[in-house]
Amino acid sequence: MKPRILVTGGTGYIGSHTVVELQNAGYPVVIIDNLSNSNVEVLDGIERITGIRPDFVEADCTDISALKSLFDKYPGIKGIINFAASKAVGESMQKPVLYYRNNLNTLMNLLDIMAEREVKGIVFSSSCTVYGEPDVNPVTEQSPIKKATSPYGNTKQISEEIITDVINAGAPFKSVILRYFNPVGAHPSAEIGELPNGVPQNLIPFLTQTAIGIRKELSVFGNDYNTPDGSCIRDYIDVVDLAKAHVIAVERMLDDKSPEKIEIFNLGTGNGLSVLELINTFETATGVKVPHKIVGRRAGDIEKVWANPMHANEVLGWKAETPIADTMRSAWAWQCKLRERGIM
Ligand code: NAD
Ligand code: WQD
Repeated sequence: MKPRILVTGGTGYIGSHTVVELQNAGYPVVIIDNLSNSNVEVLDGIERITGIRPDFVEADCTDISALKSLFDKYPGIKGIINFAASKAVGESMQKPVLYYRNNLNTLMNLLDIMAEREVKGIVFSSSCTVYGEPDVNPVTEQSPIKKATSPYGNTKQISEEIITDVINAGAPFKSVILRYFNPVGAHPSAEIGELPNGVPQNLIPFLTQTAIGIRKELSVFGNDYNTPDGSCIRDYIDVVDLAKAHVIAVERMLDDKSPEKIEIFNLGTGNGLSVLELINTFETATGVKVPHKIVGRRAGDIEKVWANPMHANEVLGWKAETPIADTMRSAWAWQCKLRERGIM
């Protein structure tokens, strides 16, 4: 029997896909989520895919007594994956304290309880946002960390520093920090996917909502960047590929496969795609048109960033495998499923 894994934010977008992969790999999972940005029905989707309903505690990770009760109720937790965080860049500019409090107190509570309850390791969700606008692409884990341009981004930088300081101070556990590029798509079963709140700020949910007619047209933010077609370039990584990397990271920590107490990996495909290329790929893959127009640049956007994923490829033996056309089809199938269920 594999040890139990605590997944914070496990009913969220990336968390739910990761719970599926953990359960498929034989790990019993307990989720803690306060449902601030997700829905309890996600558990049904996970159960339909895997045949197993993960244990679920509705609670807030900033509440240390709730965490303690969870550990009392579910003994034997040996690993934590910490997805729980507030993640909207724009909102973080309006409500910085909410972001610092939620994201940092969550992490610090988890680090405290890990030492107390003999948890062997924590996987932390970081972001390519730590690289800001890189001087050179693709970015490696050694690329410079740029000053954060939002409180959200700053919480990721500070979180990485907190983990590093705590482990360097001799904490009795390991950590794997995963820097995600742009996670997109949904589970191919269309049982789980991304559930954006209100008007989506991110490209793919806005694109699929436009394709289905909820939005009139997609605005492409700028075509005058220094890129081949003038639109911004990102590294779009399939959410199921991303989820699988977490299972490998957990195994690595629990089996003491690395002498390092703290490791950092970029999780991306290594391919940069422009906004216009992505729209085109979606249209070709699904046969559905996306009405769009070019508008001005969005304040604060990075011109281009994509990953060098060699470190994860070589050390974790992990590689993004899903062709982007398949990812676009899964994103579309999920949007259609939301319509079918009358959600959107
Ligand atoms: P999400 O909002 O879908 O999932 C986060 C989950 O955490 C939600 O279910 C929310 O209800 C829960 N949550 C938030 N604060 C909580 C708290 N204090 N206690 C308990 N539950 C709490 O977001 P996601 O896209 O799945 O992102 C997961 C993680 O990955 C986040 O840490 C995010 O910053 C990071 N990340 C996301 C992206 C992305 O583009 N989606 C990119 C890089 C990094
Ligand atoms: C992608 C591209 C937009 C919407 C954000 C966070 C980052 C990380 C990932 C968490 C950009 C363009 C978008 C639209 C558009 N998250 N776009 N029209 O900005 O790369 O990163 O998510 O850590 O921290 O900042 O993602 O999906 O918002 O944008 O043209 O309606 O799509 O300009 O080039 P981004 P995104």
